[in-house]
Amino acid sequence: MKRVFSGVQPTSQIHIGNYIGAIKRFVDLQDDMDCFFCIVDLHSITVPQDPKKLYENSLQLAALYMAVGLDPNKVTLFLQSHVPAHSELAWLLQCNTYMGELNRMTQFKEKSKGKDTVTTGLYTYPVLMAADILLYGTDYVPVGNDQKQHLEICRDVALRFNKKFGETFVIPDPLISKFGARIMALDDPTKKMSKSNENKHSKINLLDTPSKIKKSIMKAITDSDSEVRYDVENKPGVSNLMTIYNILGGLSLEDIENKYAGLGYGAFKKDLVEIVVLSLEPIQKKYEEILNSGEVEKVLKKGAEKANEVSNEFLEKAKINMGF
Ligand code: ADP
Ligand code: NA
Repeated sequence: MKRVFSGVQPTSQIHIGNYIGAIKRFVDLQDDMDCFFCIVDLHSITVPQDPKKLYENSLQLAALYMAVGLDPNKVTLFLQSHVPAHSELAWLLQCNTYMGELNRMTQFKEKSKGKDTVTTGLYTYPVLMAADILLYGTDYVPVGNDQKQHLEICRDVALRFNKKFGETFVIPDPLISKFGARIMALDDPTKKMSKSNENKHSKINLLDTPSKIKKSIMKAITDSDSEVRYDVENKPGVSNLMTIYNILGGLSLEDIENKYAGLGYGAFKKDLVEIVVLSLEPIQKKYEEILNSGEVEKVLKKGAEKANEVSNEFLEKAKINMGF
């Protein structure tokens, strides 16, 4: 069976971009592949985190993973910090990564722009991510479009390592869907929807209330004509909303265009609110149940056992090949 690895940071809330671009797709893979889904808490500390909330955020994300339909009996769910091999391999890989490679990373440029101080952890983030992936002999990494560059560096470092020290790592392929891999911000459809955007109406979080969802969608930036038409270049706002409508509501883009011909944005947005609210309702209900069940920590403990077992084998191989 092919091996899958992916991770999400336990920072703030999970938005529908994370859901559509990543987590929803994890669910589709769980029956056919051997999946490892990680809560990458070590990644989250590349920017300041409140120590009182870090662990709680991780438990909440684990509950959300299960609430969207990931079955802990089919997939391995675990916390990155429960598996020491991630930090250890990251160091070995850092000594095989060039500064020139990291200097090219657009995410680092964006996240460090305008900051007075930036940690070296934010800079070496892609190397920790490479360790995450390579420790599981991963074939496929389902991610959103923003992670494409990080996947490329992971492949480059793994190929270099194998060449220098002998066959050690499986070279992973990204799984980025052709459609929905980059959900845009509702307040500015030229930027991706992102956890770090401070405007709460720039995104819809999976745990948002119906009234918040309504407000965010009704305020979403569109354009000055009123035709519901899919045209990413000239109508990025409407096209983004149509993408969400299609993926959560199931209607094809063409059917959406026909349905709202002559009706304008108001009717379209009103229906989209209903579609989003209805698709998040069961997730929110299940989330509360799971969080209150006391099962989450047990699942993560079991997940960590399996993850430690698999990752230690790859770590050992890497160390032996390097001469340790
Ligand atoms: P964020 O990028 O919002 O800070 P993460 O780094 O935790 O969140 O990303 C988790 C997953 O969600 C990654 O696979 C990432 O590529 C995906 N993702 C993030 N933002 C979007 C988006 N706007 N559209 C589609 N996928 C996204
Ligand atoms: Na990201």
